[in-house]
Amino acid sequence: MRVLCLPIALGAFAIACAGAAPPAPEPPPAPPPAPPASASAPAPAAETSACAPRRDRAITTTSRSGSTLVLEERPNKRLLYAADEENHAIHTLDADSLAELAVTELAGRPAQILPLRDGRLLVTLRDRNRLLVMDPGDQPERPIATLCERPTYTDPFGLAVSPDGARVALTAGFDHRLSLLDARTLDSARTIDLPAEPRGVMLSGDGETAYVAHLVGGAVSVVDVARQESAVQRIFVRPPKPKTEAQKGKAAPKPINPSQELAAAQGFAIAEIAIGGEGDKAWPARVFAPMASSDPMRFGAEASFPSTYGGGGGGVAVIGAFVAVIDPKAKAPLGAEAVKVRESRPEDCILPRAMAVHERRLFVACMGTDMVVELDANAADPISTERARYRVGAGPTGLVIDAANKRALVLSDWSGEITAIDLAPDAKGASKRLRLAHPDKPALSAELARGRKLFYATRDVRMSFDGRACASCHPEGRADGLTWATPDGPRQTIVLAGRADRQGPFGWFGDHPVMKNHVSLTVERLHGSGFHDRGGAEDFAALLAYVRSLRLPSRAGAIVDEGVEAQRARGRELFYAKETDCSTCHLGDATDAKHHDVGSGDPHEKHRFFATPALRGVGASAPYFHDGRYATLLDLLSDPNSKMGRSANLSPEDRRALAAYLESL
Ligand code: HEC
Ligand code: HEC
Repeated sequence: MRVLCLPIALGAFAIACAGAAPPAPEPPPAPPPAPPASASAPAPAAETSACAPRRDRAITTTSRSGSTLVLEERPNKRLLYAADEENHAIHTLDADSLAELAVTELAGRPAQILPLRDGRLLVTLRDRNRLLVMDPGDQPERPIATLCERPTYTDPFGLAVSPDGARVALTAGFDHRLSLLDARTLDSARTIDLPAEPRGVMLSGDGETAYVAHLVGGAVSVVDVARQESAVQRIFVRPPKPKTEAQKGKAAPKPINPSQELAAAQGFAIAEIAIGGEGDKAWPARVFAPMASSDPMRFGAEASFPSTYGGGGGGVAVIGAFVAVIDPKAKAPLGAEAVKVRESRPEDCILPRAMAVHERRLFVACMGTDMVVELDANAADPISTERARYRVGAGPTGLVIDAANKRALVLSDWSGEITAIDLAPDAKGASKRLRLAHPDKPALSAELARGRKLFYATRDVRMSFDGRACASCHPEGRADGLTWATPDGPRQTIVLAGRADRQGPFGWFGDHPVMKNHVSLTVERLHGSGFHDRGGAEDFAALLAYVRSLRLPSRAGAIVDEGVEAQRARGRELFYAKETDCSTCHLGDATDAKHHDVGSGDPHEKHRFFATPALRGVGASAPYFHDGRYATLLDLLSDPNSKMGRSANLSPEDRRALAAYLESL
């Protein structure tokens, strides 16, 4: 530690004045005498919500959507808040000097922070199913006080506020919900059921429409906020695949889900960007969502047996970087016809995590490559206009533009760093790095950190020829919801989180008694060169250890809708009843580790029996069966031709109860 540095020990964290911090520019104007800390403010009147703002600080915030790195502009100070997912903390920094001012330890993993104009900060705690309402007070050197907590649905993630500051939108990934809250009290006004795995959310310039990015499913959800009964509209960001001559006039081949012919996944960030005009006058703007697009059935391969996952090989790629641009008026992707799955290169941004715009320069932060790519925000297909790329710290999760200092600031969660990229035209992308305060003992063991890096590595030719990472198909250890052409036939991606730490067999066929065998085969199927180099064996072991460590979100403390507990209890009864026969093979969420022929096999395939799948987290792993033939659990339970257990004869109500039980596993 440096001599001049005044370390403030805060619990497990120690703030070390980072040697890498750029020299502070002009000192900010001296703050006015500190008013009493908010904690000692007069007790709010009994009828006032504990969540309500203590006083309006008239803060100008630059973004209406949450992120892991946010900028808050106060009349006399500009602050940065960084969500430290790995160490469960929020770092407060001076946005000009980048000096770290305080660390606030949290009870769980923060997913996003959203500063409100009245000075409060909203924080989603992903693993605690909580929304925190915090008040940084007037002394940014102090840890941030929590005003109140609100329970959420399971796996809260994205946050957004309406332009008038009255309404807050909140997504919950695992429970696929959008909640609309009163910004003052944070009481829920309405909850909307969304398609699977929502992440980032934004509210339009007129405050009337919510747009939600999804980790899987290839669509952006659109919700009319003002109309109570309005349904969720889905905008598929990829155009339908043109039919070949042979297919014309014929019904679509298996697998059935048409939205998956040309697919997209990895939607985290979403933002409305005004092209022409400024501020609220610029509406209608365009909505941008960086994703990865793919063609999992490249050869229409339901009956063919390609040598790689998705076909391809020999330079033919099945996945590519992509930024969806949506015309909010037409509620349709812009210039979609122009956008092809481009030949992917290992350096492509196929795990985009965060996005920001500065003067028509569109910046996307990419996991896997640890790069920020700069694109043209005016283009119909921005990804084809790459102008520059900037190296950042490992595991970027947040990106914010600091217009006053003409720079982009990037938070890298894994390396615990902020990279400041100079955006001045003559700066040639010069960047500086600042290491955030960190606990003495890393949150992740060295082996798991090594495994995680590999799981997300998009440029490791040992694992794939075209840059695909494990996280491309198993995002966050979950599943991409796609059915891939494989050497065994069409195969739906299996959820790893919460399931891989068990005895085999592995894979749909259950051909692999231990996970190691399956992953070795995966690498072969991705045409990777294998882990034969020096250090390769340790890397492979670390990768397997990381996969085993992946967990599904906890439901503890989450909101459960009225009547659902009773429905789940009824469903559980049915699951263990003789009449349905489910528990002969499925031991609750576990598997009997045996193979069975449940009449689902295809005559082309090498055998007709499959390993009983583990059902943990099955609610979030649609579509179902090895070939993804059922879009929903209700479809699976209602199929009159099914030879798996007996559920089609149950009353519709009992089938719904059984589905509710399965969703709770
Ligand atoms: C192209 C998409 C894709 C990529 C990339 C991918 N997987 Fe998979 N994964 C799948 C599919 C599809 C299955 C089911 C395959 C089967 O049963 O034949 C699967 C199954 C698995 C399973 C078996 C799970 C179980 O419970 O039976 C493991 C473990 C696994 N993958 C790990 C990995 C790892 C580690 C990587 C990175 C090296 C990886 N996968 C990369 C698509 C992918
Ligand atoms: C004879 C053993 C057996 C019985 C009985 C059985 N299952 Fe299955 N289950 C399987 C096998 C094998 C598969 C995989 C089939 C495939 O993918 O083709 C499966 C797949 C599933 C899946 C899809 C999992 C996924 O991730 O796609 C669900 C859900 C499921 N079973 C629920 C049930 C329910 C509910 C019952 C009772 C009505 C039941 N099963 C009875 C063996 C069984």
